[in-house]
Amino acid sequence: MEILKRTATCGDLRKSDAGKTVVLNGWVHRKRDHGGIGFINLRDRYGVTQVVVGEDAPAELAEIAAELRNEYCIAVEGTVRPRPADMVNPAMPTGEIEVAAARILILNKSGALPFQIDEKTNANEDLRLKYRYLDLRSAAMQDRIRLRSEVCFAVREWMTGQSFYEIETPTFIRSTPEGARDYLVPSRLYPGKFYALPQSPQLYKQILMVAGFDKYFQIARCYRDEDARGDRQPEFTQIDIEMSFVGREDVLAMTEGLLGHIFKKTLGLELPTRFTRLTYEDAMERYGSDKPDLRFGMPLRDFAPWVEQGSFQAFKDALAQGEADKKAAAAKGVTASGGGVKALVVKGGSGYSRKQIEELEAQAKIYQAKGLAWMKVVAAAACGGGGSGAALLEGGVSKFFADTAGTAADGDLARRVIAGLEAEPGDLILIVADSRRRVANTALGAVRSKLGRDLGLVPGTGQAGAETGRFEFVWIVDFPMFEFNEDENRWEAAHHMFTWPQEKYHTVLESDPGSVKGDLYDLVLNGYELASGSIRIHDPEMQKRIFNIVGIGPAEAEKKFGFLTEAFKYGAPPHGGIAPGLDRLVMLMAGETSIKEVIAFPKNSFAVSPMDDSPGEVDQKQLEELRLRIVYPAPAT
Ligand code: AMO
Ligand code: AMP
Repeated sequence: MEILKRTATCGDLRKSDAGKTVVLNGWVHRKRDHGGIGFINLRDRYGVTQVVVGEDAPAELAEIAAELRNEYCIAVEGTVRPRPADMVNPAMPTGEIEVAAARILILNKSGALPFQIDEKTNANEDLRLKYRYLDLRSAAMQDRIRLRSEVCFAVREWMTGQSFYEIETPTFIRSTPEGARDYLVPSRLYPGKFYALPQSPQLYKQILMVAGFDKYFQIARCYRDEDARGDRQPEFTQIDIEMSFVGREDVLAMTEGLLGHIFKKTLGLELPTRFTRLTYEDAMERYGSDKPDLRFGMPLRDFAPWVEQGSFQAFKDALAQGEADKKAAAAKGVTASGGGVKALVVKGGSGYSRKQIEELEAQAKIYQAKGLAWMKVVAAAACGGGGSGAALLEGGVSKFFADTAGTAADGDLARRVIAGLEAEPGDLILIVADSRRRVANTALGAVRSKLGRDLGLVPGTGQAGAETGRFEFVWIVDFPMFEFNEDENRWEAAHHMFTWPQEKYHTVLESDPGSVKGDLYDLVLNGYELASGSIRIHDPEMQKRIFNIVGIGPAEAEKKFGFLTEAFKYGAPPHGGIAPGLDRLVMLMAGETSIKEVIAFPKNSFAVSPMDDSPGEVDQKQLEELRLRIVYPAPAT
C-alpha cells in the first residue's frame, strides 16, 4: 500500500509556508461541508490543520472526501495557502493557513466511535478506559502524557547532571513486608515458591549504597495490592532516590533542586529554592493534617484557654478526660498528648446555614469527632457594646461563652475569645473538643479542607495550577517513628522499618516508642503527600532493635531481612533517600485530582483494566505448569 509519508505535522504550518506543497498524515477530527466546499480538520499529536477540498476538485478527490468519517486515518497532499482574512482562526496555531487538497489517501477507516473525541472526553470512566486508545487521542490526554514525558526527561537530565547513576532493580523479588499487601508471582521452576513484585525498590537501593553507588536514582515501577483511590493505583511510578554520606538537609536540598529544575523546564515556573519546613507536630496543631494544603490559611487555633471560664460541659469533660488518660499513660512510662479543644475561624462565615454547618459536622464526625460546636461573631454595630447589653457571640454554643457586655462575672469572656481567635464580626467559629488531642486536630483539619474546597480557596479540577499559579510545597519533618495499632495492640513503623530514629531518643526506644521521632520527612504539595523518605539505619544492631519493637523477632527478621542485615555487616555507609511519586507530581502539575489522568493505561477503581480485561483467568495448562490449583470458588463436586 502506498503510504504518502508526511512532510510536515498538523501543528507545523504557518503563513510563511504559503505556496509549499506538503503531505500531512493524521486523523479526521471534524468534517463539514459549506456549499460544496469540504473542510476537514486533520489532527495528529502536534495539532490540527484545516484541509480544504474545493468545489472544483476532481471527481475522484471529491468522492474520497465524501467518504471520510471522523477518525479515519488519512494522508493529504496539497498546497499551503493563507486563509481569507475572515476565516483566520487566532485560537489555532495553524489558524492563518489551510491546505488545499490535491490528493487524499485513506490509510485506514474507523468504525463508529463509542464517544466523540473532543478537547476532553466526557464519557464515563470505564468507557474511557475500555477505549483508552481513543481517549488518549483527546487534546487534554495528549497534553498530560506529553507533560509526563517531559517531566521524566527533566528528572533524568537533573539527576544525571548531579552525578547520580540510573540503576534498575528487579521487579521479581522476595516478599518482604513494607506496609501494603504484595502482588505475588508464582515460580514455575520452584513450585510452591513465589516472587513478589516490589512495593518500592527500598531494600535494593539501600544495598546499592553498601555496594558503593553513593548516588542512585530510578524511575521505578512499584506495586501495591491496596484499594485504588484518586491518588493511588495498584501499580504506580516513583522517582526513587538514595544517597550515601548525607544528612536530612542534603536530601531535602537535592529534592528542592530536582523539583525546581522540573518545574522550570516543563512549566517555565520558578519555584522557591527552599521550601518551608514544618514539624509533624506543628502541622497537626495548625492544620490538623500531616499533608496540609497551604494554598490557603485558616489555621486551627487553641480554644483551651477559654474552656475553664466558659460553661460548656462537653469541652470541660474532653479536657478532664484527656488529662486523666495522660496521667494513666505517664504511670506506665508512656507519653500521651491529652485532650484538645480546637477552633477554626471562617472569615465572613456567619451566613452559614444550619444545614451547611451540619454538613461540616458530618465531615468532622468521619474523623471521630463527637460533634462540631459553632458560634457566630455578630455584626460590628452590636460589637461596640459598652453596656448596651448586645451579644457579641450568637447561636450554637455561644450562650456558654456569653457575655452580654459587662454582665458576665469575669468581665468580658466573649470579647477575649474573639480577640484571642483574631475573629471579626461576620465570622463563624467552629470548635471540636476531644479527650484525644489528635482527634480534635484531625477532625477540624478535615473541616478546614472541606471549607477550602467549598469556599473556592483552592482551584477546582482541571484548572491547572500553572495557570492559577499556586504550588505550595511544604516539608513535614520530625515524624513519630512508631504508631500504635489499636486493633493489633502493637507498635508499627510510621514510615518503614529502615528509618533512623533521631539520636536523642535512642535511650527510650523500647520504653516509650510513642515519644520517638524519626529522621524522616514528607514533601507535601497542595495537600497531597508528594514524596516520602528518611535517613536510614545502617547499623545492624539498631535495625534489630527496631524489628524487635514492631514485633519482628530475631528468627523472623533473619528469614525476611537476613540479606539486608548481612549486607550491613560489610561497612554499610550512612545513607538516606526519598521517593517522590511521579504520577502524583504530574497530576498536580496538570491541575488534576486523579492520577488516572496522567497514566496511559491505568486500572479503574476496582483494580481492573477494562481495555484488556485484566486480571483474567489463565489456561488450565498454565496452572498445571505452575502446580497451582484454584480452590476458590470451590470446585463443584
Ligand atoms: P512511600 O510508600 O511513602 O515511600 O511512597 C513514596 C511516594 O510514592 C507515591 N505513592 C503512590 N502513588 C500512587 N499510587 C500509590 N498506591 C502510591 N503509594 C505511594 C506517593 C508517596 O509519597 N521506599 C519509600 C521511599 C523512601 O523512603 O525512600 C516509599 O516507597 O507520592
Ligand atoms: P449537645 O449538648 O450534645 O446537644 O451538643 C451541643 C452542640 O455541641 C452540638 O452542636 C454538638 O455538635 C456540639 N458538641 C458536642 N460535643 C462536642 C465536642 N466534643 N466537640 C465539639 N462540639 C461538640
